[in-house]
Amino acid sequence: MRRGSIVQLTVLAAIAALITTLVAVLIPWLPISASKEAGRIHFVYWFTTVIAIAVFAVVAAVLAYVVLHFRARPDDDSDGPPTHGHTTLEIVWTAVPAALVTAISIVSAVVLAQNSHAGRNPLVVKVVAQQFAWQFTYANGQTYGFLKVPKGRSVELDITAKDVLHSFWVPQLAQKQDAVPGQFNKLIVTPTRLGTFPVICTELCGLGHAIMRSRVEIVTPAAFASFLKRGPGGGSGPVAVFNQAGCNACHTWKPASSTAAVGPSLDDVSADAAKAGMPLEQFVRESIQDPNAYVKKGYQSGVMPSFEDQITGAKLDALVKAIAKGAK
Ligand code: CUA
Repeated sequence: MRRGSIVQLTVLAAIAALITTLVAVLIPWLPISASKEAGRIHFVYWFTTVIAIAVFAVVAAVLAYVVLHFRARPDDDSDGPPTHGHTTLEIVWTAVPAALVTAISIVSAVVLAQNSHAGRNPLVVKVVAQQFAWQFTYANGQTYGFLKVPKGRSVELDITAKDVLHSFWVPQLAQKQDAVPGQFNKLIVTPTRLGTFPVICTELCGLGHAIMRSRVEIVTPAAFASFLKRGPGGGSGPVAVFNQAGCNACHTWKPASSTAAVGPSLDDVSADAAKAGMPLEQFVRESIQDPNAYVKKGYQSGVMPSFEDQITGAKLDALVKAIAKGAK
């Protein structure tokens, strides 16, 4: 090959690599990483991307070079000269991709193994999915409608479902895990970044799939310790009950400073109670325990789960009173 051709090919490859690198780097394709596991998964993405860019640059350079130098001239109707393969070239373009794919497999296998390793003394949280809400239960038996975890400590999520298939996903934690009735699937998360991120159901599970969301709060170890110690008992007021059960993910309610608009606003439910033909407090209680008995016009039935098992006794009484009070 002439020296000029090699220079041309190199320049073309450099141009292709530069353009693809800019597209890869300048556009934020990945969410920020908030856990060690996500960091490792992002590393696999970048490792693969670098290889893909290198392969693309070589192929694009050869293609452009061939188009520039070997295209048929106008009025050239002749056949090209007969050729019979090139053994060295064929060995190279088989061996190099094989080595690259093997490298990607090994890196992925190492990351998978590391990501399923909880380390010593993980924080265990039971995650229960149901149409259409999430419940997070800690070792001390306390249950919340959101997940709170400390930065820096491995968390083992034991994920299951009450009714149909769901799937747990936090984009910033990068992993997904199926929630299957009758089965506990493990997911290890080691948070590295403080903040609040969405928990999303990523398995089509019915009418309310799109609104089946919660949140994960990553807090300092000290804040987490006081959260566990305080427990839901420390806040048994109606606002605390409302937030712990995750009602604030869907409903507007002034006392809780909640502005969600997935379900009806709870700021004034007296008109709905009248339509349902029930006394106010009885209507609120029924709506928490058997939400499909009466569904406000404009909203679909079968979306809100019953909170009969989750909000009980004095807490239920307090919440019912508080919601009814706002309507008077
Ligand atoms: Cu639960 Cu989709």
